[in-house]
Amino acid sequence: MTPTPKQLTAIKAAVFVLALVPLARLVWLTLAGALVEPLQFITRSTGDWTLYFLCITLAVTPLRRLAKWNWVLKLRRMLGLYAFFYALLHFMTFLWFDHFFDVAEMLKDVAKRPFILVGFIAFVLLIPLAVTSTNAMVRRLGGKRWLWLHRLVYIVAPLGVLHFWWMKAAKHDLAQPLLFVAIVALLLGMRVWWAREKQANPTAQDRGQTRRV
Ligand code: HEM
Repeated sequence: MTPTPKQLTAIKAAVFVLALVPLARLVWLTLAGALVEPLQFITRSTGDWTLYFLCITLAVTPLRRLAKWNWVLKLRRMLGLYAFFYALLHFMTFLWFDHFFDVAEMLKDVAKRPFILVGFIAFVLLIPLAVTSTNAMVRRLGGKRWLWLHRLVYIVAPLGVLHFWWMKAAKHDLAQPLLFVAIVALLLGMRVWWAREKQANPTAQDRGQTRRV
């Protein structure tokens, strides 16, 4: 299946709008006063969507290779930027609505709930990826360096899962974190497998793992 350029534009527009639905829902529920604990709901919802978008972004390459859908690469940058966008909202909720920029209070909270620090590290590592997501930055860095930098996402996703796991471990509720451990392990495991395959057979055609759109 290869969409025409027109269809691809339509798919991109649809993904762009769909990715905003969780935010629209949050705004709607908050303004309608439908949330019992708005702060908790917003923090959790934006955290969830950060993790979902990280996984969806990581699923692009496997989908492309397994289904031979090369065009999905054209969605990767947008999906990655949405992961960053929801992470930013998640972080701002913590910084602004939860602690009103009170650094001492934040540090106290981090001391009490160290899983927050893991989330913070994951967020900080996402910043260079968002900043260098433009074509101009790809050119400036050069393909190889850009690629190496963007491999940071292989650290960000496990850190996001660890953050989630740690939070839920305190509540002895590990069903969802386990699911994400499995998803991220599968998505990263496939890359390890392909890298080994390539090492064992270096003459094989590079099936575009490193291609940038
Ligand atoms: C890539 C970065 C991050 C990811 C993937 C992420 C993901 C998540 C997820 C999935 C949850 C649980 C949501 C649920 O229970 O359904 C969560 C909770 C939470 N996150 Fe993050 N997070 C990230 C970064 C951060 C940062 C930067 C902070 C703050 C400095 C933060 C603070 C929190 C807090 C305080 C909670 C718990 C909310 C509560 O107890 O109700 N996270 N995060």
